[in-house]
Amino acid sequence: MTLGIVAALHEEIADLLAEMAPGAHVEHVGMRDYHVGRLHGHDCVIVLARIGKVAAAATTAALIHRFDVREIVFTGVAGGLAHGLHVGDVVIADTLTQHDMDASPLFPRYEVPLLGRASFDTERILRDALAQAARDWLAEEMPARIDAALRSELRMAAPCVHIGQIASGDRFISSANEVTRLRGSLPQALAVEMEGAAVAQVCHEYGIPFAVMRTLSDAADDMAHVDFPRFLRDVASHYSHGILRRFLASRRV
Ligand code: ADE
Repeated sequence: MTLGIVAALHEEIADLLAEMAPGAHVEHVGMRDYHVGRLHGHDCVIVLARIGKVAAAATTAALIHRFDVREIVFTGVAGGLAHGLHVGDVVIADTLTQHDMDASPLFPRYEVPLLGRASFDTERILRDALAQAARDWLAEEMPARIDAALRSELRMAAPCVHIGQIASGDRFISSANEVTRLRGSLPQALAVEMEGAAVAQVCHEYGIPFAVMRTLSDAADDMAHVDFPRFLRDVASHYSHGILRRFLASRRV
């Protein structure tokens, strides 16, 4: 059973690509490179989708049609929305909503027109396995991979794993006002990013089990544009690589 691994930014998959077994090959489809091969004993296709919902949806559809993947995991970073979450925490989606979907008054706010639903649930086995892999990696490996000075600079106190709603939209959220607005309109949402709900919609439409894992790179506030690139450069790949390696190891081949 082939697993598709998708990210929006190169840093989020660079170390995974480097670990693909010899014999992996690249297929170039629709301006994207699909890396096809074995990763830690599993048939995988790893691809950089680029940023935003359209990019993510197009990539997901190609993974399903052209590469016949049977499961999809999206890995990347997100901005924290809920109170009590911190940079360095991991959020695993149980459900995803497009926060910028609004065809009201024709359809209820957030509902995807003609599909009759506003949110899409991830697959329980995938998300539980990711959550366990994330907890284990945070406890056992993270302190050795990200040194204490950097953790303190990024205000990563004691990173932990949360499972809940993720909101996606074609907008980098970078102001306290926007955070307040999103908290008001989607009070359950833990994090905000730009792809997950699009992957979720396509997977729902094709009946493909999927999961979305996000590390909080910023608080989506007025400092987000500073925190985000720093986290991406120095921390994000350690999380993606370390957690997905454990996730793959935990699965039967
Ligand atoms: N991905 C990481 N941080 C984000 C933010 N603040 N807004 C949207 N997507 C993000």
